[in-house]
Amino acid sequence: MRHPRITCTPLPIILCLSLVFLVYLLSSSGDGSKCGVPQGTPMGPFPCKDNDLEKSVEFRGRFVVFRNYVPAEKRFRCNESVTLTAPGDYRFLDNILPLVERWKGPISVALYSPGYDFFSTLQSIAYLRNCRTPLVRQLVTFHLFFDTDHVPTQHDEPLVDIYEDTYDCSQKPPYETMQDDEMYKTRMNLTYPINVARNVAKLTAQTYLVFPSDIELYPTRNLIPDFFKFAAQRGEFFRKNSRNVFVLPVFEILAGLKIPENKSDLKKMIDNQTAIAFHQTVCRSCHRMPREEEWINDTNKNGLDVFTIGKRQGKQVIWEPFFIETQKEPLWDERLNWEGQGNKMCQAYYLCMLDYDFVVLDNAFLIHKPGVKKKKVQNLKHSEEQHKNNQILRDIQYQLTEIYGNNTKCKIHNVFKKLQTPA
Ligand SMILES: *[C@@H]1O[C@H](CO)[C@@H](O)[C@H](O)[C@H]1NC(C)=O
Ligand SMILES: *[C@@H]1O[C@H](CO)[C@@H](O)[C@H](O)[C@H]1NC(C)=O
Ligand SMILES: *[C@@H]1O[C@H](CO)[C@@H](O)[C@H](O)[C@H]1NC(C)=O
Ligand SMILES: *[C@@H]1O[C@H](CO)[C@@H](O)[C@H](O)[C@H]1NC(C)=O
Ligand SMILES: *[C@@H]1O[C@H](CO)[C@@H](O)[C@H](O)[C@H]1NC(C)=O
Ligand SMILES: *[C@@H]1O[C@H](CO)[C@@H](O)[C@H](O)[C@H]1NC(C)=O
Repeated sequence: MRHPRITCTPLPIILCLSLVFLVYLLSSSGDGSKCGVPQGTPMGPFPCKDNDLEKSVEFRGRFVVFRNYVPAEKRFRCNESVTLTAPGDYRFLDNILPLVERWKGPISVALYSPGYDFFSTLQSIAYLRNCRTPLVRQLVTFHLFFDTDHVPTQHDEPLVDIYEDTYDCSQKPPYETMQDDEMYKTRMNLTYPINVARNVAKLTAQTYLVFPSDIELYPTRNLIPDFFKFAAQRGEFFRKNSRNVFVLPVFEILAGLKIPENKSDLKKMIDNQTAIAFHQTVCRSCHRMPREEEWINDTNKNGLDVFTIGKRQGKQVIWEPFFIETQKEPLWDERLNWEGQGNKMCQAYYLCMLDYDFVVLDNAFLIHKPGVKKKKVQNLKHSEEQHKNNQILRDIQYQLTEIYGNNTKCKIHNVFKKLQTPA
C-alpha cells in the first residue's frame, strides 16, 4: 500500500492530518520541482513510487475492499501516464467501452457490489474482458467493495479466488439484462457509497497523476500525450509545492448524437443547441467556469494549454469541476453518499481552503453520455439522505475552518446561508 495513513481514515479531520503528513512525505522524498524538461518528452520528476497492482483485501470503515481484484495486463510506472479513476456499479459498465477507446491509458474503476450484486459484477467484467475490445483487458483495473454487513454468499469457493476470466459471448452481460429492482442493493434499500468508490479508485491508481472522473463522462482523445507535452512546456505548474488542478469543461449533448471530436464540432453543437453546459438544467452554478462564453469561441487551437486560471470563489463559489490532479490532493469524505448529493463539494471546498488555483485547459473537454438530464432524480426519493449529507457538509465546513482558519471567500455549498456550528 502506498498511502497506508490515508486508506483507513474516512473522517475529514483525519484526512486533513493525513494530507499534511503526505505532503510532508512527498516533499521530503523527491524533487518535484525540476524545470527545463525537454519539450515533447514526458516529464519524470514526480515524487512517486510504482504500484504493482497486486490483489489485496482491505477493511475500510464499514466496507471490505478487494483492491486490484481484476487487474489490467499493462503496467505503468508512476510517472508514465495519467490514470482515469471512476466510481460505479456494474450497471454503468457499458460506458467502459467508449471510455477505454477514447482514453487509451490506465483506468481504475471501483465498483460497489454488495450481496449477490458481486456475482453480476464479475460476470459483467468477464464479458467486457473477453467479448469486446482487447483494450479493456490491457488497460482497465477493477476493484470491488461491499459493506461488512452485506458480504456476498451463495458460493463454493473463497471470494478472493472466485473470479473466472471466461464468458460465453453469445450471452448478453448482466448490465444489459438485469433490472434495477432486481439488484441486491435496491432490494436491501442500500445507499451508494460513491466517495468510498472514488477514494479506492484513486488510491489504487498506478500513476501519480490521476483524473478522477465519472464513468459516464467521455474525454477528448489524445488527452494523455497532450497533457504530458503541456506539462513539459509549463513546468511552473508542476513544482513540488504547486497548488493547481487542471479543469476540463463538461457538456451534455442530446440523445442519439455523435460525441464532438474537437472544439469546433462542439461549438457548432452549442450554437444549434444540440449541446449545453453540464447540469444546465440541474445545478447551473455548480459547473459555471470562469470566462466560459469566451472558452467556447476560442477554437483555433492544437495541443493543450492554459485557457484561464480561477479560484473557487465569487461566481465560482460552489463550482464542482472535474480536473486532472495528483495523488497529493485530498480525498472525498466517505460519509457522504450519492443519494444525499453534494458529495464532490467536500474536495472542491478543501482545495479552496488550501488556496488552490483551478487551471482551465483550453482544448480538452468532457461530454456526458448522450441524453440531457431533465431533473434531479435524487430529489424525488431521498430527502432524508440529503438532510444527512447537508449536515455532514456543514460539519466539514466547520472543521476545516477550525483547522485552516476562517476564509469567508470559500463555501462548501450554497445550502447554508451562513456558517453554522454542528448540531
Ligand atoms: C520515470 O522515472 C524513472 C525512474 O525515476 C525514469 O527512469 C523514467 O525515465 C521516468 N519516466 C518518464 C516517462 O518520465
Ligand atoms: C425497503 O424499503 C421499502 C419501502 O420503504 C420497505 O417496504 C422494505 O421493507 C425495505 N426493505 C428492507 C430490506 O429494508
Ligand atoms: C474536427 O473534427 C471533425 C470530424 O469530427 C473534422 O472534420 C474537423 O476537421 C476537425 N476540426 C479541427 C479544427 O480539427
Ligand atoms: C447541430 O450541429 C451538429 C454539428 O455541426 C450537426 O451534426 C447537427 O446535425 C446539427 N443539428 C441540428 C438540429 O441542427
Ligand atoms: C462567441 O461567438 C458568438 C458567435 O458564434 C458570438 O455571438 C458571441 O458574442 C461570442 N462571445 C464572446 C464572449 O466572444
Ligand atoms: C468567520 O467570519 C465571519 C465574517 O467575518 C463571521 O461571521 C463568522 O462568525 C466567522 N466564523 C468563525 C467560525 O470564526
